[in-house]
Amino acid sequence: MFFRLAYGVYSTYPTIVTAKGQAMRFKNSSNGYGLVTQGLHWATAILLVNQFVTAAMIASQLGGAGVYGWHKVVGTWVMLVVFARLVWRKATKLPDFAPGLFGWEISFIEFVERALYVLLLVMPISGVVMSVAGSQAVPMLGLFTVGPIDSPIIWLAKTGRLIHVASAWLLAGAIAVHVTLVLRRHWYEKGGYADRMNPFSKD
Ligand code: HEM
Ligand code: HEM
Repeated sequence: MFFRLAYGVYSTYPTIVTAKGQAMRFKNSSNGYGLVTQGLHWATAILLVNQFVTAAMIASQLGGAGVYGWHKVVGTWVMLVVFARLVWRKATKLPDFAPGLFGWEISFIEFVERALYVLLLVMPISGVVMSVAGSQAVPMLGLFTVGPIDSPIIWLAKTGRLIHVASAWLLAGAIAVHVTLVLRRHWYEKGGYADRMNPFSKD
């Protein structure tokens, strides 16, 4: 995407203008996602790649305390980014559904997106609960530390872990279904569906 800064007639503040001469859209409009939603979407995706890679390292006992610490710090960032997404969804209306979607696709997309949001909150919350109840210090966002508490609450730590592990599988499944739905529509039905989340798309 090529863009330049332009100065409005009435304002000395620059507006970012695309190669096609359109003002860049930060907010969603009825026919597409704005840059903020797109940025938050891809930030979540990158953070999640980190979470699953570090989780695999934890599960296979590769890397030491540093990997645990990094998994926890980035995991709490997921919580913040998802919270920002929900606030932004309330503040700016989502675009209309892409034209041409089948009825079953709309229902499926809505269901999977809701499941994604629930799981994206359950994951970090269960992680924090498991760690704090297990008497571990949790580096929240890398900015401040919660715990360690004096004596572990074993039942809570175990429940938190169970929820964390089960939800991780559900989340991985929901992401796989989400990406399959997007790519099926993009490649099989054509029409450039995935461009809706592409900040570099020419439209
Ligand atoms: C969206 C955010 C997160 C995702 C996707 C995620 C994912 C995972 C996954 C897949 C595992 C491996 C589970 C297994 O053993 O099969 C794991 C383990 C773990 N996670 Fe997370 N996590 C997230 C956030 C957090 C947070 C915020 C914390 C703590 C503050 C945390 C603490 C832990 C700990 C301590 C383990 C090791 C559990 C054990 O094996 O005993 N996670 N996480
Ligand atoms: C990795 C984790 C991912 C998560 C958690 C996720 C989550 C979401 C959510 C919640 C939405 C609804 C819009 C919103 O609330 O912002 C959405 C929309 C979308 N996502 Fe993802 N996504 C992920 C990965 C991907 C990938 C890899 C692709 C590309 C293949 C993709 C393409 C899209 C598209 C095109 C939309 C717009 C759908 C529409 O408007 O109908 N997503 N995603």
